[in-house]
Amino acid sequence: MSWVTRAAAAGLSALAGVAARDLLQREHTLLRNFPVVGHARYLIEAIGPELRQYLVAGNNEERPFTRDQRRWVYASAKKENNYFGFGTDNDLEYTAGYPVINHRTFGRAVPTTHVAAGHETPLPSAKVLGGARGRAQAFRPNSVVNISAMSFGSLSGRAVEALNRAAAVAGCLHNTGEGGISVHHRHGGELVYQIGTAYFGCRDEHGRFELGRLKDLVASAPVRALEIKLSQGAKPGLGGVLPAAKVSAEIAAARGVPEGVDCISPSRHAEFSDPDSLLDWVELLATETGLPVGIKSAVGDMGFWHELTELMATTGRGVDFVTIDGGEGGTGAAPLIFTDSVSLPFQLGFARVYSTFARAALQEQVTFIGGGKLGLPDNAVVAFALGCDMVNVAREAMLAIGCIQAQKCHTDTCPTGVATQNAWLAHGLDPALKSVRAATYISTLRRDLLKVAEACGVEHPGLIDTSAVEVLTGRTAARPLSEVYDYEPGWGLPSAADQAEIVRIMTAEAPQGGSAPPSPTAVG
Ligand SMILES: Cc1cc2nc3c(=O)[nH]c(=O)nc-3n(C[C@H](O)[C@H](O)[C@H](O)COP(=O)(O)O)c2cc1C
Ligand code: SF4
Repeated sequence: MSWVTRAAAAGLSALAGVAARDLLQREHTLLRNFPVVGHARYLIEAIGPELRQYLVAGNNEERPFTRDQRRWVYASAKKENNYFGFGTDNDLEYTAGYPVINHRTFGRAVPTTHVAAGHETPLPSAKVLGGARGRAQAFRPNSVVNISAMSFGSLSGRAVEALNRAAAVAGCLHNTGEGGISVHHRHGGELVYQIGTAYFGCRDEHGRFELGRLKDLVASAPVRALEIKLSQGAKPGLGGVLPAAKVSAEIAAARGVPEGVDCISPSRHAEFSDPDSLLDWVELLATETGLPVGIKSAVGDMGFWHELTELMATTGRGVDFVTIDGGEGGTGAAPLIFTDSVSLPFQLGFARVYSTFARAALQEQVTFIGGGKLGLPDNAVVAFALGCDMVNVAREAMLAIGCIQAQKCHTDTCPTGVATQNAWLAHGLDPALKSVRAATYISTLRRDLLKVAEACGVEHPGLIDTSAVEVLTGRTAARPLSEVYDYEPGWGLPSAADQAEIVRIMTAEAPQGGSAPPSPTAVG
């Protein structure tokens, strides 16, 4: 018998085996009815997302990030040409809710940015974090774009290292996420240490918060601020479990939990139970560590925010920053109902919270940070106009270090080594190379934001206000952003003193992108 005949016989007997198994099993009707060929349907279902992504989807299809949005992040991260040719392919004439930025013909700001990419201008926050409340370690963040909370556990150690190194290169802050401070967070990037409901990194053996451990931990790393996590947009009000198989020795050490045992995050904090006790805890942490202390939350019922601002206005206690996460935000894993339907999308939620602070005349004393697809310049500009002082980027930073939006983060089979604890999958991610990509993406985003600010005639994105943005309501009408979200004049801007200071900082260097000096016959 030739090898061809032998191979054909082996193939046929394998098919016969599969057919027999399909006919005898009872679990899948499809396979009983269509033995062998029925498997094609399961195969196509499994690789459907990739097929659609590469072959079928248009530039503006796909979520969370469209092909155009991903292309912009990838090209920015690699310092490739991130321009788009031939004009927009967005359907702006017919898309209700499409925001449009109003540039000014004669603005007061002379562009400080160089016309060519690669000449970066620093873009610090317009507010001093913790300054209004006189925290001992108050500081002005160097970057209005920072890396959002993502724990070691949801991300691989190599991904965390890449992001931490990127933070050092880009001069921005790296939020640890709720999984504690690991060895991978110690590569030079400055940290915001996030304290979640399980107090990972600052808990005792019974899972109770321990102040001494918190102080030791923040003294051991370049921690610049503390963020108390109340909730995140993708799964508010829900705890989490890191399955035992993923709780390696390194993860156990960072979190202060036993190795190889399911690691539970409860849905509620044990240290406080209402806005009043939350504020007491904020003041305790700030006094004991000297660090600015803030909260991160998604937005649902507004009762919490009303009570919080009333207490801040009347009792002298207060948070230094508020991070608002939109319902469109990401997560490693969550039930569909939570990712799809619980908590408001960013713009709506943020505007409600900001307005509550503004009505209590507290908005100038608090740094507002936004998250929820704000690593895209158009979304970020609207966030700044609504009153954000800084934006956090999570999934966009993941894209910059190689994520291909395969959306398998919850399965531990991430093909790019970003969101997995599988050592073999993670080994392909080179932290040194990817850190440069993430840092380049962050500085490109900062540059785009500054360019838009200059087009609007102001020196810094924090000085863009609601008058610079309109929201299209169809082909023939638009509404000002202030009207859409019921903003009063002046809302969305820092205090007059903060505005003057950030203008001084931004114009200290000679402008690089201005025109030649006026001619002798110039009239203006
Ligand atoms: C893999 C992953 C892990 C995350 N882990 C945390 C976390 O530990 N704590 C937290 O507050 N938010 C966490 N988030 C939410 C992000 O910090 C961020 O708020 C959200 O994804 C919105 O930002 P984005 O649209 O730029 O991704 C996580 C998100 C992702 C994608
Ligand atoms: S490549 Fe896929 S699985 Fe990996 S981080 Fe990105 S979305 Fe998650």
